[in-house]
Amino acid sequence: MDLDLADRVYVVTGGARGLGRATADCLVAEGARVVLSGRSEESLREATAALGERAHGVVADNADPATPARLVEAARERWGRLDGALVSVGGPPKGPVTSITDEQWTTAFATVFLGAVRLAREIGQQLPEGGSLALVLSSSVKAPLAQMALSNGLRPGLAMVAKTLADELGPRGVRVNGLLPGRVATERVAELDAGTGDAESARRAALATIPLGRYGEPEEFGRAAAFLLSPAASFVSGVMLPVDGGMLRSL
Ligand SMILES: NC(=O)c1ccc[n+]([C@@H]2O[C@H](COP(=O)([O-])OP(=O)(O)OC[C@H]3O[C@@H](n4cnc5c(N)ncnc54)[C@H](OP(=O)(O)O)[C@@H]3O)[C@@H](O)[C@H]2O)c1
Repeated sequence: MDLDLADRVYVVTGGARGLGRATADCLVAEGARVVLSGRSEESLREATAALGERAHGVVADNADPATPARLVEAARERWGRLDGALVSVGGPPKGPVTSITDEQWTTAFATVFLGAVRLAREIGQQLPEGGSLALVLSSSVKAPLAQMALSNGLRPGLAMVAKTLADELGPRGVRVNGLLPGRVATERVAELDAGTGDAESARRAALATIPLGRYGEPEEFGRAAAFLLSPAASFVSGVMLPVDGGMLRSL
């Protein structure tokens, strides 16, 4: 199957590492060009050096209201077009509802929630017919994760915003979807496991909940995301796609 990604241009926020980077790797391998964003100039430099001339880095925080316009401008200036965006960002800190503070809620809302809404809203309106947005969310859209109050509180709302935006942009031929990673072996997941104080036990407990019996590889997520972004998925819009090895207990 041809994903028809050659020469298309995608913004990938949180693109220097983890799930964003894995998606950028796949997009570029399929012939697309990418504008990667993130807060660390150094990790963006490393990522763009590894990806080669079809990647361009922009230091930008998803929480900054100026970020969407800067990324659209960078894509147009550098590559002369924009076909879509993957919106990824660092995950919120761990903790139960009973101890997460107002300040933590406010910070996570600005970055994880409003940052994604603003990027999807602003970039989505700039996309041509055939354009595609994909939001990196979490299995917490459908089922709560223990000790992840912020994710459980914010992601389901974002999923419904994405669904609503799919209704609004659909008549212009622009698609909007979400991806729900379960446990994919990125640095964040390694940090979450280590943060329990016993990474091996945490990993064993998580593996027991995954029918495929392993963590996903970042490239397995990247392929699913690249497909959703690509014209090959031209009649797929408004869906929340789990990439979780069968972990979620709901359809
Ligand atoms: N991996 C999984 O299995 C999994 C499961 C469920 C949900 N998720 C969610 O998926 C998202 C990506 O996860 P990941 O595993 O790829 O995380 P990761 O390895 O921590 O990568 C996150 C990337 O986002 C960038 N970033 C962080 N904060 C940002 C901000 N405010 N603005 C712009 N870029 C920012 C980081 O670079 P800088 O620090 O340089 O900005 C980094 O490149 C997270 O929201 C996570 O909660 C992941």
